[in-house]
Amino acid sequence: EEWSERGAAVSAKQETDAAGHTQTRLVKKGVKDFNFGRTLGEGSYSTVLAATDRQTLKEYAIKVLDKRHIIKEKKVKYVNIERDTLNRLTEHPGIVRLYYTFQDERSLYFVLDLASGGELLGVLKKMGSFDVECTRFYGAEILDSVAYLHSRGIIHRDLKPENVLLDRDMHVKITDFGTAKILADPRRSASGNSGAPGDPIDGAETDRAVSFVGTAEYVSPELLRDKNACKASDLWAFGCIVYQLLAGRPPFKAANEYLTFQKILALEYTFPDGFPEVARDLVERLLVLEPANRLPVEHIRNHRFFEGVQWGKGLWRQKAPRLK
Ligand code: ADE
Repeated sequence: EEWSERGAAVSAKQETDAAGHTQTRLVKKGVKDFNFGRTLGEGSYSTVLAATDRQTLKEYAIKVLDKRHIIKEKKVKYVNIERDTLNRLTEHPGIVRLYYTFQDERSLYFVLDLASGGELLGVLKKMGSFDVECTRFYGAEILDSVAYLHSRGIIHRDLKPENVLLDRDMHVKITDFGTAKILADPRRSASGNSGAPGDPIDGAETDRAVSFVGTAEYVSPELLRDKNACKASDLWAFGCIVYQLLAGRPPFKAANEYLTFQKILALEYTFPDGFPEVARDLVERLLVLEPANRLPVEHIRNHRFFEGVQWGKGLWRQKAPRLK
């Protein structure tokens, strides 16, 4: 079936029967359980709306996807990848969480964490650029989130400041897993091969490997060269983001995509005057053409640029620095 419901979340409803026993019924959430509000964003296949759970009054962002449009444009696999990926990424404060999925005749609905602070890109544009303290904080939260999704066997493949959302307390929530790659689970397959033949996840990957390129400015050289993304490709994008937060613009930018790709492949970028030396050292160790030679997550955490950062839970409990 086209729109299967694997991993769909349900809520438990407790009822007391005539004999006084408590019974738990699993109730699937549906459109009628929410009050829909303002539009938060619009994509080519979806609209994100603010919504409130009528029972709990908890606020969510609901991504509404048009089934007919998705089928017509052959994007069914991508929608399934987004759902499967989000279902693997539970319990990290830096990732937009998927709470429920449901559908009606016309649409699919993904009930997500609401990130009311909007996109990091919007905040950055308003400020022009960030100082070292803010870049350290947002860089650390993005890195902690990327480390988590890598630990869960997922490569994002389209990290950029538009996909880094901010919650009401201005902490990071990474979104948009429609182009993510789910790696074979090493616990299920000691040889490192993928699961069963015809596995929907692997099937999607085969097609995508030749067709998908993320956003031009953040695309890694290995994706352009070999059409192959790995965990280190997310760290290339991370290097581009750290550069952009401090400089106010991404390192590789040209009049069109082709010229941008040429600059990336030639590692053609420069640092603006006044770019902090410690940050420059970090960026230079991330923007490395050979993915195997890029600084791995553990070494990034220990780089001098992130000196003083409380990695782990402390980072997320900390008050976000005032933007300057
Ligand atoms: N725009 C897209 N996804 C969103 C979310 N989860 N929260 C707020 N705005 C969004």
